Amino acid sequence: MTLLQATGLTKVYGSRKGITTRALDNFSLDVARGEFVGIMGPSGSGKTTLLNLLATIDQPTAGTIAIDGEETARLRGDALAAFRRRRLGFVFQDFNLLDSLTVGENIALPLVLDRVKPAAIKEKLQTIAAYLGIVPILDKYPYEVSGGQQQRAAAARAVIHEPAVLLADEPTGNLDSRSARDLMENLSRLNQLAGVTITMVTHDAFAASYCRRILFIRDGQLYNEIHRGESRQAFYQQILDVLSLIGGGADEPLADRR
Ligand SMILES: Nc1ncnc2c1ncn2[C@@H]1O[C@H](COP(=O)(O)OP(=O)(O)OP(=O)(O)O)[C@@H](O)[C@H]1O
Ligand SMILES: [Mg+2]
Repeated sequence: MTLLQATGLTKVYGSRKGITTRALDNFSLDVARGEFVGIMGPSGSGKTTLLNLLATIDQPTAGTIAIDGEETARLRGDALAAFRRRRLGFVFQDFNLLDSLTVGENIALPLVLDRVKPAAIKEKLQTIAAYLGIVPILDKYPYEVSGGQQQRAAAARAVIHEPAVLLADEPTGNLDSRSARDLMENLSRLNQLAGVTITMVTHDAFAASYCRRILFIRDGQLYNEIHRGESRQAFYQQILDVLSLIGGGADEPLADRR
C-alpha cells in the first residue's frame, strides 16, 4: 500500500539576479508502507530539495505530495505544524541534540511536547532505546557520548512518536565508517522489526546498500532505479556500478567497505 506518493514534483529556485535553477524536474516517487528507500545522485542533483519538499519544509513549484492520505500542500499553520510533528520524523547529518538535556530527555522530547503521559513516555523510550542499542547512555548528556551514539539517539527521537515516515538526509555524513555501519544496521532493524518506513538521501554507497530500493536522480530527474535481492554485498556492487555511470558526486566508492 502506498504511504507516500509524490507526483510530478518540480522545484524552480529563483535568485535575486534573475537566474533560476530547476532543481527538480517532474520527479515522481511512491513509497509503500514499510519500505526502506534510498535516494542517490551527484552533488546538486536535487536530493535535498526533494527531501525538503517531502518534509513540508519547502513547497514545490508544481506537483503534489500525499503522505498517509494527507495532501501536504493543503495544510497550513497549526495543522501543518501538527502534521510535521506527529506524522513525520527527521534525521539530518548534524545530530541536532540539545546539550542541556540528557540523551533520554532528547529522545522523549516529541512526546513531552505532545503532552503524552510520563508513564507512556517512559515505556516508549525504553522500547525505542532497546531497538537502537542505546539504553546504557540514556542518562548521559550528548557531549558525553560518541557521534555514532548521538546519531542513534537522533534516530530514536525521530521515530519515538511512530511517524508515518522517517526522512533522513545524509544521516551517516558525519560518522566514521564503524559508526555509519552501526547506524545503518540499527535503521535496518527499525525498518524490519518495527516496520518504520524510511526514505534516506545518501552519497554513501555502503549506507545505501542497506536500503531495499534506490532511486538515482540526475539533474532533477529520475535516472535509474534498482532493487536489492538477497545479498547486501551484491547490492553494494550494483550501486557502485550505477554511480560510476551517473558520474559526479560519487564521494567515496574507492574505499572498499563490503
Ligand atoms: N535555496 C536555493 N536557492 C537557489 N538554488 C538552490 C537552493 N537550494 C538548492 N539550490 C540549487 O538546486 C540544485 C539542487 O540542490 P540540492 O541541494 O537539492 O542538491 P543535492 O542533490 O542535495 O546536492 P548535495 O549532494 O551536494 O547535497 C543545485 O543546483 C543547487 O545549487
Ligand atoms: Mg543535499
